[in-house]
Amino acid sequence: MSDFRRAVLAALETKSFGRTLECYREVSSTQDLALRLAQNNALEGTVVVSNSQTQGRGRFGRQWLSLPGGLYFSIILRPEFKRVADIGSITMVAGLSLLEAIKEATSLQCRLKWPNDILLYGKKVCGILANIDFFSGNIRYIVIGVGLNISNRIDDLSEVAVTLESQTKQPVSPVNLLTTALRRLEEDYYIFSESGFIAFKERWLANAAFIEEPITVKCFDQSLRGIIDGVSDLGQLRLRLDDGQIKLISSPDIVIA
Ligand code: BTN
Repeated sequence: MSDFRRAVLAALETKSFGRTLECYREVSSTQDLALRLAQNNALEGTVVVSNSQTQGRGRFGRQWLSLPGGLYFSIILRPEFKRVADIGSITMVAGLSLLEAIKEATSLQCRLKWPNDILLYGKKVCGILANIDFFSGNIRYIVIGVGLNISNRIDDLSEVAVTLESQTKQPVSPVNLLTTALRRLEEDYYIFSESGFIAFKERWLANAAFIEEPITVKCFDQSLRGIIDGVSDLGQLRLRLDDGQIKLISSPDIVIA
């Protein structure tokens, strides 16, 4: 067993998250490995974690640069709830859990950029990706992938990305971050399963970036300008247009510029 795996298992405080744990030094993508495990009936809470990825992927089919020193992990969920309508907001809740875990582990205060980016001083420190498998209208599994910049090189992304250690100026323990993140993710997942996004709405907004700020939303081939007015009870972005009209945005394919 690797030292990393032993240390994580010794420090875990969860019921199921991370209890089945695969740890690697390098993989193609933890998301692809976890998806394969999920297809083969792996238990809820199974986690695949790696110190680097050769084919890390992000949202919109983008590449996710995953050099050694980051925390790259994917977790398998098998939700029993049937509320497909607010399933999109599960990654928003995961973002909140991770933001709070980062604060607990490092004292750094991050901000949430809708729907699920985590920013530190305006630059991306953590990204979240979800793959959902439906069967006969039910959710069979969700795999949530998390890429967290800790001490990894970010090369020519330094205009838009940041690492935790560049701000703490002291080492950040990946073991502590992962176990803190899994504890918070699990606690919030149980609440989300019972009550949905609405139970998190105020907490989410209290940590959000760009509220009441003018932004441009790129939605497919359309560009909408407006002021962020908040989020709906289902986690949709509320954009106040120039004429005062509120537009609810839920498309996963939008970018806030
Ligand atoms: C984003 O585009 O912001 C989401 C990035 C998600 C990256 C993580 S790293 C762990 C997991 N494995 C992957 O290949 N992607 C996700």
